[in-house]
Amino acid sequence: MRIVTGIRPTGPLHIGNYLNTVKHYVELQNNNECIFFIADLHGITTPYQATTYRKEILEKAADVLATGIDPQKCILYVQSEIKEITELTWFLACVTPAGDLRRMTQFKEKARKHPKNVNAGLLNYPILMAADILIYKADLVPVGKDQKQHIELTRTIARKFNKQFGETFKLPKPLILESSAKIMSLKEPKKKMSKSDPPETYISIFDEPEAIKKKIMSAVTDTGRSIKYDPKKKAGISNLLNIYSIFSDIPIKEVEKKFTKKGYADFKKALAKLLIKKFEPFRRKKKDLLSREVYIEEILEQGAKKAKVLAQSTIEEVRKKIGII
Ligand code: TRP
Repeated sequence: MRIVTGIRPTGPLHIGNYLNTVKHYVELQNNNECIFFIADLHGITTPYQATTYRKEILEKAADVLATGIDPQKCILYVQSEIKEITELTWFLACVTPAGDLRRMTQFKEKARKHPKNVNAGLLNYPILMAADILIYKADLVPVGKDQKQHIELTRTIARKFNKQFGETFKLPKPLILESSAKIMSLKEPKKKMSKSDPPETYISIFDEPEAIKKKIMSAVTDTGRSIKYDPKKKAGISNLLNIYSIFSDIPIKEVEKKFTKKGYADFKKALAKLLIKKFEPFRRKKKDLLSREVYIEEILEQGAKKAKVLAQSTIEEVRKKIGII
């Protein structure tokens, strides 16, 4: 299967993101033809820092490489390197129903969040995403639930194009990656962990040991003292139990048993220790990669070269079909 997915360059990779995205990508690359990219063109549709953007893009590449994305097994590149994608975006825009764009949930949410910056790029975001996918005639697109609607629109766009100009694009399917275990905020354990909340509410997989310790020790717990899984009555401790269970591969029941005679503080100390140890290799690898920026750039350049070959062949076909050779 050919699999395509993009990762926006901004924001840290917290443990919830990691479980729902990169961890799966690392597995998918073993048995599929995977194309991964840093979606820098999507990243500029909401407010961002131009002066530090290049650095953030390279850092995001280091993030995914550090977690095990292997350039020997997949293609990894930066979206803006493939100009054919921006070209295809325009062609696809001309078959996309404008009304559909205005109905996209993410557009409405982001427009609400950034009322002073409701730009046309934000509205056209899903067309660029469709181009990202259709240019490679992908079979599967791993995304979070929030992106499902965009994949549906991608299918609509592909269908419309095929109908008007003849069979060209494959209709891609979404692969919804939601691990059953939901990771909640450390400060408001009834709310999902989110990178748009303050750093003390989430653990990044690249956090320094001291930061992990501090965040876990000050995580919200509940009144009472027993370490029992009960998400309704004991949301805080249940979230921590869940995190412990996932990253130790020990069922929650057994984690409870392990800590029956212990207090919250002991449990939290053990959890911090576990996470520090678990993420140590990621942190080390990222540090090493960031000290070799040229090496990261080389990987991205090689990736772009391979992607370009595929993209060029589709764009030639499309140009012919729409009559502007
Ligand atoms: N919009 C996606 C997100 O925010 C990122 C993305 C851009 C993407 N292009 C894509 C994902 C193409 C899958 C396929 O998560």
